[in-house]
Amino acid sequence: RWIAVLSGGLSHEREVSLRSGRRLSAALRGTGLVVEEWDADGTLLSRLRGSRPDAVVVALHGGEGENGAVQSVLELTGVPFVGTDSRACRRAWDKPTAKAELARSGLATPDWVVLPHSTFRVLGAQAVLDSLVDRLGLPLILKPDQGGSALGARVVREAAELPAAMVGCLAYGDTVMAERYIEGVEVAVSVVDGPDGPTALPAVEIVPESGLYDYAARYTAGLTHYHAPARLSEAEAKAVGELAVAAHRLLGLRDVSRTDAIVAADGTVHFLEVNVSPGLTETSLLPMAVEAAGRSLGEVFAGLVEKAIA
Ligand code: DAL
Ligand code: MG
Repeated sequence: RWIAVLSGGLSHEREVSLRSGRRLSAALRGTGLVVEEWDADGTLLSRLRGSRPDAVVVALHGGEGENGAVQSVLELTGVPFVGTDSRACRRAWDKPTAKAELARSGLATPDWVVLPHSTFRVLGAQAVLDSLVDRLGLPLILKPDQGGSALGARVVREAAELPAAMVGCLAYGDTVMAERYIEGVEVAVSVVDGPDGPTALPAVEIVPESGLYDYAARYTAGLTHYHAPARLSEAEAKAVGELAVAAHRLLGLRDVSRTDAIVAADGTVHFLEVNVSPGLTETSLLPMAVEAAGRSLGEVFAGLVEKAIA
């Protein structure tokens, strides 16, 4: 058998994806698979038509790698692949769409507002910012509605910080999602499809030294402390696991996903977002969860490769 691991691409998360691809490829080779690492660029389709791997594993982050575009290409060629299909990617990748879907099913998620760039021109920038603070209160967090690795995300504690934060966020996309900021324990819960359906791995607790889990805190060793499993009560650990499995199911995700959530002081678990292609780098959360479960990354993904081919 030989498989192609897709990484790289042209999103803001290209470097992260190259690291994910490298680590995953090494892990899969360790299980005896023959692995080629492919950069997902404009030659992808001709490459797939020229030499057809037994399966493809998507280790792309951001942009076309998560919004369903690359998945559509894979579906077009009929090559089996590990990861969520194009339709579910489109839904889950868009943060407000995923939140709305899960809120409709009764799951808690912090209140939010979606602001396309043009809103500011049409309604007046200051009026929009004032309304935003009236609606969500402070602190709030701004995120590009589609994005990853916290790029463009800004926590706003004072109204005076809002204009600059908004500009910083809009640098990463045309639409901002503003969300009420909930203080609490930040956790990431990975889900893997198995013979008994989707199963949550132990939650990983995230404690950034700066207090902010930004790009540097994510990818610089030592800047964030992790607890796997998270220091939660039994009931909280169960609740976050159930949330992640519910998100995986309700959004139609396949093979792996990672749900990011906050456990507030009152024990409420708030859904923040789901990642259709979780990071697999040396400092990423899914590999830590796999290890905490007593499994190995190679074994988990080799199993998913077999399932994709079967
Ligand atoms: N977007 C990054 C890769 C993550 O969620 O891990
Ligand atoms: Mg994310």
